[in-house]
This record gives sequence, C-alpha cells and structure tokens, in this order.
Amino acid sequence: MDFAERILQTDPPPLTSLMKRAARLRAEGRRVFQLGQAAVDYHPPATFLRSIVEVCQSKDLSLHGYAPDPGLPELRNALSDYIARSFRFEVDPERELIVTPGANHAAYTALSVLLGPEDEAILISPYYFNHLMTVTLMGARAKTVSASPNHGYTPRIDSILDAWTPRTRVLVLVNPSNPSGARYPDDWVRELGKAIVRDPHWSDVWLLSDQTYQEIFFDGGYPLSPGEFDDIRPRTVTLSSFSKSYALAGWRLGFMTAPSNFIDEALKIQDSSVICAAKAAQWALARTLGQEEDSRRYSDEKRALLARRRDALLDPLIKDRRLNVHMPGGACFAFVGLPGDIDADPFSWDLMERHGVVTVPGYHFGPEWKQFLRLSFGTGSENELNEASQRIVDFLTETT
Ligand SMILES: Cc1ncc(COP(=O)(O)O)c(C=O)c1O
Repeated sequence: MDFAERILQTDPPPLTSLMKRAARLRAEGRRVFQLGQAAVDYHPPATFLRSIVEVCQSKDLSLHGYAPDPGLPELRNALSDYIARSFRFEVDPERELIVTPGANHAAYTALSVLLGPEDEAILISPYYFNHLMTVTLMGARAKTVSASPNHGYTPRIDSILDAWTPRTRVLVLVNPSNPSGARYPDDWVRELGKAIVRDPHWSDVWLLSDQTYQEIFFDGGYPLSPGEFDDIRPRTVTLSSFSKSYALAGWRLGFMTAPSNFIDEALKIQDSSVICAAKAAQWALARTLGQEEDSRRYSDEKRALLARRRDALLDPLIKDRRLNVHMPGGACFAFVGLPGDIDADPFSWDLMERHGVVTVPGYHFGPEWKQFLRLSFGTGSENELNEASQRIVDFLTETT
C-alpha cells in the first residue's frame, strides 16, 4: 500500500467542491452570496496593520527569523493578560502557553499528544469537521454525542458521560460552537464540570476546550471557560485564535494553554512541524494586545456588527416559520433545519446554482444532520444577508 491506513481512512476537507463551484459562478459574473465559509470580512485592528508595516521598514532583520518554539516572550506575556481578561483564568506565560499558527494547529497538536490508535475522543454533534478529521488521522475513534436544536444545541450532560468508556482520552467542547452557533449556558458548563470530576474515568480523560469564538457572543458576558475551575484546569487544554475575533485568519495566529507537563509534550510537535508561528505576525499581535482599550473597543464593535448581521440573516427565516431556527448565542453561524423530508445536500447545491446562495449541507457536521444547513453570517452586509435569506425562502417555496 502506498499511503498510511489512517490517511486513507480520513475524509478530505468537505468544503472544497462547494467553494470551487461558488468561485466558478462568480467568475461567470453571477452574483454570489457567501454563507458557506467560516470567515469574516472586516479589517484587522489598526495597530496590527501598522506594526506589520513597521516590521517591513525595520532594519532589525531578526524580525524575519525564527521565534522561539513556544512563541515570542512579549506575545506570551500579552496573551496571559488577554486570557485573564477574556477567558478569566491565570496562566504562567512561560510554562503553560504556546503560540500556534491558528487554532487548528493547536487542536491538531493537542489531539496528537493525547490520542493513539483505538483511543476514543468524544465530539459533540453537530461537530467541527476538522476535529473529526484530526481524530481519524491519529488512528483514533470519534464517539459523537448529539445536541438537539430543541435544547439549543446543548447536549445532555448524562449523554456525554454515557459515551465515556475506558478508552476515552479526550472530550472536545467547542463553545461558542461551529457549526451550531450555540453558546452553552454558564450553568451548563458549571454542571458539566462538576459531573466530569465525579466520574471514575476522569483521571484518564482530558478536556479540549476550543474557544476560537470566545470573543464572539451575543448575550451576557464572556462564555464561561472550563479552565476557570481549579479542579478541571489540571486536565484542560484551552485553545483559541485571532482568525475571527481579529480577522487575522491568513496571518495564522492562535494559542494553546495547558498544564506545563502537557505543553512540554506539545512542543515536540510544534518543533517537528511548524517550529513557530510567523514571527512578524507574533510581534504585531503583541503590540495589538498591549493596546488594551483599543482591543476591547474593537471586539465590542465587531460583536455588535455580527449581531446585526445575524438578525438581518435570520429575520426572514424566522418570519417564514417553515425552518427550524435556533438563535445563535455566539460565533457566526446558524444551523437551520429544513421542513418536511427535504434533503439538504441537493437543496444546497440547487440553491447555489439557481439563486447564488452558498450554504453548507448539515451532513458534513454529522450524519444525523441531513436536513440541516449551516449558514455563516461572518461576511456580507446586512442588506446582502437579508437578500440571501429571502432567496432561501423563495427557493423553499419553489421546491415544496
Ligand atoms: C471551532 C473552530 N476551531 C478552529 C478553527 C480554526 O481556526 P484557525 O484559523 O485559528 O486555525 C475554526 C475555524 O473555522 C473553528 O471554527
């Protein structure tokens, strides 16, 4: 056999063919409404952009070299302050934190540290498909726990515990969630924390908390981080990034925080794969986070912008009443159920061909979501999102 079995077992990234078709339609001059990609279209913070220009003009050539594997010390210090204010727990920037090229690489690293062949990872379904891909790449097995729209896409705690077996090595939580847009209630996170530490298997399990959308929430304050709890933090890996919150996806900036023994293992993967995140980008991010007031104002503005976009997208769907719409509490996605027995896969492709609206069929996020669509409201003006949504309603009328 030419290729490793675990590579062959892993499905390719699911959005490639949808995105190719959307690009072709745009090239043909068609109007395309991009509700497919998990991307945002606002400007990064001004300090970041200014700092990148400074790097380019600087005579200090070391700015173009390697950074230390775990990240620039000034960025790790700035990140520990940022984590204290946005994630509400303290980390030691020298021993418990590494800068990664994005949250995906942090998740890949964390799952590589934890999973061997035949081990099990629990994912909440609908899940973020890259987590499934990574679990499969490790030769491990994903066990999924369904979260129903009727319960705000928040899974029942006993169903998570029921899924634990002696082979379970990690429970993956994404809060706020891609793709469901759920923001788990703080009380639920508290209850989950209490329940998992009581479980006899807890000492063999880690919690991987993907908080990529920590800055993007619509109700209340910051989502509760499991890392806040003294009894859970010693077995928790928290990761996040600046791809969405600061619109820096292409600069590949994220981080992972975990107990120092975990970080020591993670650095083996960092060093043997990417070595470090891009140094110039790290330098610019350190300066950006250092401007605390500006950072806070920037995040407040983007949250308000995304809340308006969410409403513009969802209002027509809610008024129409035929779709099952759960109001997203965070992130930039809605996961909506189609009526009757409509299969979302052909529906999504036909909707793109006929009305130029790009959506993602739900089965990519778990086989039980065949009648669901993920809609992203990270890009597009309120008017465009409203029109896209009206087109979904019109298409529904044409096809039913
Ligand atoms: C839940 C979640 N985690 C991680 C990522 C990856 O982000 P990054 O660009 O920081 O690698 C995404 C991107 O869509 C995401 O939705």
